[in-house]
Formats: sequence, C-alpha cells, structure tokens
Amino acid sequence: PETITIQELANRMSERGVDVIKLLMKQGQMAKITDVIDADTAQLIAEELGHTVKRVAESDVEEGLFDAPDAEESLLPRPPVVTIMGHVDHGKTSLLDAIRHANVVSGEAGGITQHIGAYQIVAPNGAPVTFIDTPGHAAFTAMRARGAKVTDIVVLVVAADDGVMPQTAEAIAHARAAGVPIIVAINKIDKPDAKPERVRSELLQHEVQVETLGGETLEVEVSATKKINLDKLLDLIALQAELLDLKANPARPAEGTVIEARLDKGRGPVATVLVQRGTLKVGDVIVGGSQWGRVRALLDDKGEAAQEAGPSTPVEVLGFSGSPEAGDRVAVVESEARAREITEYRERQKREKAAARGTLARGSLADMMS
Ligand code: GTP
Ligand code: MG
Repeated sequence: PETITIQELANRMSERGVDVIKLLMKQGQMAKITDVIDADTAQLIAEELGHTVKRVAESDVEEGLFDAPDAEESLLPRPPVVTIMGHVDHGKTSLLDAIRHANVVSGEAGGITQHIGAYQIVAPNGAPVTFIDTPGHAAFTAMRARGAKVTDIVVLVVAADDGVMPQTAEAIAHARAAGVPIIVAINKIDKPDAKPERVRSELLQHEVQVETLGGETLEVEVSATKKINLDKLLDLIALQAELLDLKANPARPAEGTVIEARLDKGRGPVATVLVQRGTLKVGDVIVGGSQWGRVRALLDDKGEAAQEAGPSTPVEVLGFSGSPEAGDRVAVVESEARAREITEYRERQKREKAAARGTLARGSLADMMS
C-alpha cells in the first residue's frame, strides 16, 4: 500500500510536522514525526489543512518510460552483448585482451578485476560484438548478477588446470536466473596440467552439458596467452547470436542500463551505459535512477568522443547531475521538466521506503523486547 512519513507529508505541504501530529491526535491517533501513515489518512489531513491533493501513482510518473513496444518493422539486427564470467584468475580479462589485441590485465591492481569493463570489437566475420568483462573475485557477486542481466550470452571461462570453482557455479546460477545461454570456454589449455575432460564432467554436475558429452551447450578449448582457438570462440558467439535473432529499434529515444558509474574529479559523474534500444545522442535529456542530466559528451570504449551510440553499444556518458547507480536503467525523456519530475518522484520513493524500513525495524525491536 502507498504510505508516507509524517515528516515528508509536512514537507510537501510546507506545514509543520507538529501540526500534522496534532490533527492525527484529534482523530485519536498517537504518532511521531518519523511514523508512516497510509495515503488515505495523509489525504484527509492535507485536505483538513486546506491543501488540494493530487495523488500521483507510479504508473503516471513512470508511464511510457520503459518497455514501450516497438513495431516489428522498426526492428533491425543489433550486435550481441556477451558477458565474460567465471572464477577469479581463470583468465577472463586475458581472454578478452587477446580477442581485442589489448592489454588490460597488466594494468590491474594485483591482476584482479574490480570493475566491469565494456568493449566492442569487430569479429572476423565483420559483425560487431559487445563484450562485458566481470570480476571473478568472490566479493563482486552483485556486479556479476548485473552483468548477467544485461547480456544476451554468457561466456563461462573455466581454467583447465583448476576446474569448476565456487564462482564458476555462481556464474552458472546467474546465467540461469537471467535465462541466458552459456558458451563454455575451457581456458589455459596450454598448461601441462590442463584437464579439460575433468572440467566437462564437473560442469555436468552443475547441469551444464557440453556438446562433446552429448549436450547442447557450445564449448571450446582456448588459451588466452597462447591465442589458441580465439576465432573458434568468436564463431560460436556468432552462431549463438544468430540463433537468438537479436534486434532493436535504433530510431527511438534511447534506453539502456548503467554498467558502472563513478565520480571523476575533472569531469564529474561518469556513467558507463549500455544502450539497449534507440540511439543515445549528445544533447539528450536522460534519467538514470534518481539522477538526470543532459548528455554533454559520449565516449566510446577507446575513450574517443562520439556523437551518438546505438543499440548494444557501451558508452561513457558525461552530463549526469550526480552519479546514478550501477544497474539503474537509463531513458531519454522529452524535457528537463519531465526528467526532474521523474527523479524527484524517485527520490521521494527512496526516502519513504527508507523511512518505512526504519519504522519497521524499530517496531520489530520493540516487539522483541516486550
Ligand atoms: P579476475 O578478473 O580477477 O577474476 O581474473 P581473470 O579471470 O580476469 O584472470 P586474468 O585474465 O587476470 O588472468 C589470471 C592469470 O592467469 C594471469 O596471470 C594470466 O596471465 C593467466 N592466464 C590467463 N589465461 C591464460 C592461459 O590461457 N594460459 C596460461 N598459461 N595462463 C593464463
Ligand atoms: Mg579479470
């Protein structure tokens, strides 16, 4: 049910909290400023104090913001979004480095990935592919879950000398939860102690049945450092993508998801956004979580300025007023006024939820002690 704290209600009416409390007392209700009341009670009080009430439902404010259907004929093929997942040190970043002919690993602190990287490459068949790297360290479960949510395909990297480990199993669970197909990349095949057969049977215990064991999960043995079978992996990705028949409408206001966001000293809030539908352009007014802004600049994965970014493209977005949160959905809206309305509404929702949680927590503590 809809609720509001007495404090918030008073704020919105520019009335004093004590006056609201007095009215409640008149109606025989004892209350504190931090208490939560239901929407009907709030409306009665507001009217009593001479205010007109406009009840705004979520469906009104957020109306048409996301998931408005696109006409079939507006849909065009889009690149697959591929998220690399697996246990720590199994070679995810190395594999992506090898595919990109780049070198990210050597620049990482302790060789451990601590954020999500997003890149686009052009595969040998000429088709672009978007890759998202995720950390394998146990601490980054939330990042992996988000990675699995925005992706079309998960490449599960399993080191042949180490086998299926806890975060391998976790990645499988994330992919399942997101309903995303897995391609198994058995990595470090160059190592003398590599045991790819063992990896296959261990995966079977997690109900991932690869092709060579009669299953349907695509698989490939690779070596990131020796650059073995990288083309084969890209072929499998292309094959899987073809089966998925991925499409999006590029000619509409953009929608996407914040992959990560940070506050840059010089540039202000910088959000890495994966555009999922439409085309994001410099000058667009965007909302993301409870932040909004006007796109000041877009930077591609090589740090180069871009004027726009279409479906499946990762871009750094400059221009948010504050940092949105990773996982927040981003949408282009028609005006700054609309952006403000949406973000203010979300801010309020957030505050009220927090207040309600606080009251609940106190309530249950009191219950425990009585
Ligand atoms: P996190 O992001 O921290 O989870 O690690 P990661 O999965 O990205 O692993 P990373 O690419 O950082 O590689 C870990 C170590 O394994 C590095 O020392 C790599 O050089 C090594 N490595 C990666 N791939 C291979 C491979 O194919 N063969 C061999 N021999 N070593 C590899
Ligand atoms: Mg890594």
